[in-house]
Amino acid sequence: MAPHRVLIVYGTSYGQTARIASRIHQLLAHQGFDVTVRKGDELGSALNPVSYDGVLVGASMIRHGYQQYMRAFVHRHASILNGMPSAFFAVSGSAGSANGAERDEAKRLADRFCRSAGWQPMMIESIAGAIAYTKYNWLLRWVMKRISAREGGSTDTSRDHEYTDWSQVERFAVGFGARVDEALALAAVR
Ligand SMILES: Cc1cc2nc3c(=O)[nH]c(=O)nc-3n(C[C@H](O)[C@H](O)[C@H](O)COP(=O)(O)O)c2cc1C
Repeated sequence: MAPHRVLIVYGTSYGQTARIASRIHQLLAHQGFDVTVRKGDELGSALNPVSYDGVLVGASMIRHGYQQYMRAFVHRHASILNGMPSAFFAVSGSAGSANGAERDEAKRLADRFCRSAGWQPMMIESIAGAIAYTKYNWLLRWVMKRISAREGGSTDTSRDHEYTDWSQVERFAVGFGARVDEALALAAVR
């Protein structure tokens, strides 16, 4: 039997969501899936989600919004995504906040992103990102250091700081793989 095909499309501004997409790729490939990973603003016109058995969409929160090209992707393909196993992983600073209200807000924004496109993914996961001081210009580094100090995060600007919970990423990837397998098994007996 041919391996089940999974597409991962992600948006990133500073690289952490690409790192998470790559880990999900690794985990699903290890489970035997045939995985394609693409950045959302580098999709060839030939790429069509309908040719996959499952689609994972990722985006990062920058200034209260996700990448515009990811918004466009889910709006364009919502009806195809609704007809197959699909999931959204939303990467943000607030997902890793010590403040429960901020974590709730991160989840609310992720839900709203999907709902506003008319997309109903099987899973929505809110994942903490990173502070990538070395990738910011001096002004952004200064702003992010102030925000981080306020939030109880690291203010050591000589390096980047990762807040991603990799065991959460693993549970999410394995859970999604199981959903794809289930959906295909059900389709086979119908
Ligand atoms: C300029 C900038 C703006 C950000 N705005 C938000 C925000 O509004 N809400 C939030 O929760 N996190 C915010 N963050 C944190 C990012 O979501 C976090 O750094 C994430 O890891 C970025 O993912 P990426 O590296 O894939 O772009 C911001 C980060 C930067 C650098």
